[in-house]
Amino acid sequence: MVQSSHNMRALVVANWKMHPQTFRQARALFEATKKAAEAASSIDIIVAPPALYLHELAITYRGKRIRFAAQHAHWDGAGAYTGEVSLAQVKDAGARLVLIGHAERREMGESNDDTRKKVAGALKAKLTPILCVGEKVRGASGEHFGFVSGQLRAGFDDVALSALARVVVAYEPVWAIGSDRAMQPRDMHEMAIFIRKTIVDQYGAGGHRVKILYGGAVDAENAPVMLEGSDVDGLLVGRVSTDASEFRQLVSAIQKA
Ligand code: PGA
Repeated sequence: MVQSSHNMRALVVANWKMHPQTFRQARALFEATKKAAEAASSIDIIVAPPALYLHELAITYRGKRIRFAAQHAHWDGAGAYTGEVSLAQVKDAGARLVLIGHAERREMGESNDDTRKKVAGALKAKLTPILCVGEKVRGASGEHFGFVSGQLRAGFDDVALSALARVVVAYEPVWAIGSDRAMQPRDMHEMAIFIRKTIVDQYGAGGHRVKILYGGAVDAENAPVMLEGSDVDGLLVGRVSTDASEFRQLVSAIQKA
């Protein structure tokens, strides 16, 4: 029997994006995030700070409740890539996970083939890849399903069955990211089932080991509804994760639910 990844522990990824503007503010936000994490024992919290802050936050953190993720890393081991950071470098800086193919990176030119190389590279570097997928628009005839399955197929192309338990998929419809409103829970559940089915079609029952997250306008109000009774194991949170009090409320709402 294959055990499903779905369990009672929710995963919350705090994607700080290009915030805050100074390390001093980052330190303060991290202190607040730590307090929120300590009060929420049933939630696994991952902080994805800007690459520049990662090392200092990670080496001075003594707790066990938080793990770190990089927001991005280059697929190649080393080389002439001005401005890039490598998977090995973010790992050495303290990251245990790495976001791959976030919609904002795809918008800057990251391709499906890049995500394939990065997911494989992350697994090789013993980092957990968080492969981000999501459609830009929804069509009446369901084109968004084909779009997402194309992103999944590419991202998983070099992933072995034995590595599936170490892969996370974050479904983020591009139109919900940064918007006022998350998507309808029903539509999200439908897509989560579709994502699961796509992976299971490719790998068999082992596909149940992949964790699935939802992201896009997540807040304290919609978070419990998104997690309730669904195939979703956690949330990828942007704006709310950079506001100490909103993040505390979010985490406590999930903890209560
Ligand atoms: P948001 O961003 O929560 O601000 O909508 C989510 C994301 O892009 O990960």
